[in-house]
Amino acid sequence: MGLLIKNGTILTALDEIQGDIYCDGDTIAAVGGDLSDRKKTGDDVIDASGQVVFPGGIDPHTHFELPFMGTVSADDFADGTAAALAGGTTMIIDFAIPAVGGSLLDALSDWHAKAKKCVADFSFHMALTDPSDKVLGEIPLLVKEHGISSFKAFMAYKGAIGVDDEALIHFMQTVSKAGGLLWLHAENGDAILERQTRFIAEGKTGPEWHEPSRPAILEGEAVRRALTLAELYDAPIGFVHMSSRDAYQAYAEARVRGQEAYAETCPQYLVLDDSVYQKPNFESATYVMSPPIRPAGHSDWLWKGLINGLIHTIGTDHCPFRLEGQKTMGKDNFTQIPNGGPGVEHRIELMWHYGVGEGKIDRQRFVALTSTNAAKLYGMYPRKGAIRPGSDADIAILDPTASRTITAKTHHSKCDRSLYEGFELKGAVTHVVAGGRLQLVDGDLKAEQGAGRYIPRSARS
Ligand code: URP
Ligand code: ZN
Ligand code: ZN
Repeated sequence: MGLLIKNGTILTALDEIQGDIYCDGDTIAAVGGDLSDRKKTGDDVIDASGQVVFPGGIDPHTHFELPFMGTVSADDFADGTAAALAGGTTMIIDFAIPAVGGSLLDALSDWHAKAKKCVADFSFHMALTDPSDKVLGEIPLLVKEHGISSFKAFMAYKGAIGVDDEALIHFMQTVSKAGGLLWLHAENGDAILERQTRFIAEGKTGPEWHEPSRPAILEGEAVRRALTLAELYDAPIGFVHMSSRDAYQAYAEARVRGQEAYAETCPQYLVLDDSVYQKPNFESATYVMSPPIRPAGHSDWLWKGLINGLIHTIGTDHCPFRLEGQKTMGKDNFTQIPNGGPGVEHRIELMWHYGVGEGKIDRQRFVALTSTNAAKLYGMYPRKGAIRPGSDADIAILDPTASRTITAKTHHSKCDRSLYEGFELKGAVTHVVAGGRLQLVDGDLKAEQGAGRYIPRSARS
């Protein structure tokens, strides 16, 4: 079965043209002017006049069905990838997180089992929580035999999945030698633990103490320390969910010195500020995530990084916990509130509205940040992240004149709260094609459980 998308403004990370796209099965077959003569009997046709057509989004940072802080994140792989498709994201990369002391290969098969329900394509990063010989020995196997070329270690979460500098050094050396890329959750775990313990002892128990317990200076310190180690051990390094001026400046200085380093930020750090922690009735717990939402002003630095190209990707860190029954686990102690929030559904429209709509980034940078850069960095380009013959038929269509009001009442996530409740956006995703399947039609989701495919990724060259 084929699909003809007609008369759209086709955006890529490099340029834009007016024209048609013809998809044959799960692959893009032709891109150009008038492709009407390619249409066969029975093919679907979408009229994209007045709309922009771009590579399906890649969200490189999700946590579906994640066991974390005594509970499990609220969206499974079917819910999460359905929410992704509804917002124009056709592929996600989730984090497989082994138990401390557990085997990476076991964690990988657990995540594969959970991801069978995916309605969109998927891959995994592997988290490194334990520098045992067994784990270090499995890293090259994951890269060479399982298509997993990216890893994450946590400098935060001391006493749980966090690791110390000695472990980091082992991970950096082993991952880089294996042709992988190590990403870090950069926050100083020791100082956070000291502050959390002291705050609780002082009776500072509410969600408004979450940000002060892990201030931006502790993210900046961790980024600087990791960069120093990465330089010493000659390893490329990346920083996920960068949230602050302190982290950005430490990172940007290293980039200017010529160090090989990469960065991801998330919409919540670009469009929210720490006033969210003043919301009444424990609603503020919705925003308890790590790193926390920062005071006003920090986001300006992250936008600078998006504009000058030093920040490469936009992930969501989608890790939803329901306010009722999950976030309330920390009603009397903010350190027990499960960390994380939803977002996979709104990444593309938020970046369109606040990035392109407000004139901060052009449409090519929008495509690069939401899709193409992730495809390149994570070893999937040009299969993913491109609109060209031979690429996967993963395509999003957005009507720049349409509006969207975000609310948990209508979003596809199972979370009972949205980080962006009531936000009114200009520009709405109308159609989504995933692997050649028409999954969103005029805003109506027709997701097919199990249709998502595992996408193995190549090692760094
Ligand atoms: O608060 C967050 N970010 N929860 C998910 C785990 C992580 O650190 O990414
Ligand atoms: Zn993290
Ligand atoms: Zn995360």
